Amino acid sequence: MDLVVAESISKDYVNGKVRIRALNDVSFRVGGGTFVSFVGPSGSGKTTLLNLIGCLDRPTSGRLRVAGTDVAGLDRRKGARFRGRHLGFIFQDFNLIPVLTVAENVEYPLVMVRGVEGGKRRAKVARLVEAVGMADERDKFPDQLSGGQKQRVAIARALVTEPDLVLADEPTANLDSHTAGLIIRLMKSMRDTLGTTFVFSTHDMRIVDAVDVVHTLRDGTLVKAADPGPGREGESRV
Ligand SMILES: Nc1ncnc2c1ncn2[C@@H]1O[C@H](COP(=O)(O)OP(=O)(O)O)[C@@H](O)[C@H]1O
Ligand SMILES: [Mg+2]
Repeated sequence: MDLVVAESISKDYVNGKVRIRALNDVSFRVGGGTFVSFVGPSGSGKTTLLNLIGCLDRPTSGRLRVAGTDVAGLDRRKGARFRGRHLGFIFQDFNLIPVLTVAENVEYPLVMVRGVEGGKRRAKVARLVEAVGMADERDKFPDQLSGGQKQRVAIARALVTEPDLVLADEPTANLDSHTAGLIIRLMKSMRDTLGTTFVFSTHDMRIVDAVDVVHTLRDGTLVKAADPGPGREGESRV
């Protein structure tokens, strides 16, 4: 099943009399369980596109379906509910809550969104903290962690609600390239074990080796869609 179907979406930002076309007639599909990256220089429209897929903003025109729902027409409240049910987010500056421990940060979305019962919640948290290799740090606070460790925690937090789709806007921008490579491989292994679909953006071509599909954006237009790698034949082609 295609988890994201974008048909001719455009996005204009209007500031007073100035209208900026951030995305222009963009169409693509993301197959369920794939690992997809949007690549492009700063200003090419990556954040705008991820915000649209993440229901944080709406397209000016075009059709956009995410997990079977037409998200182009959702109002704020419905968008928020849709995000809680279907989406996970990983941010470039990690966005961990400083007064909560590693385990508490991972638990937080379950407390907020799902109302999962205590024992089950702790079991899920323990499993994910372990899966991202942070079990020994589970009682530490964010300021005691390296950048790469913080991003591991953010990945566990994004996955704890078992979302259909995880969106990550330049998740490795604040990491050195070695750590960035490790984080990308970790996200991919989480995809392989959990079947979660990952869509992320980066301006760094060096870290897209692990990706099934790369879409390149330039000035708001999709310029190229690479073939899927071996073994993923036929998935997520445009
Ligand atoms: N809130 C906004 N208001 C006006 N212009 C914006 C806004 N957000 C982004 N833009 C413009 O839209 C274009 C795409 O930006 P963005 O999606 O942030 O690109 P990227 O994430 O690839 O750097 C750029 O020209 C940017 O200046
Ligand atoms: Mg951006």
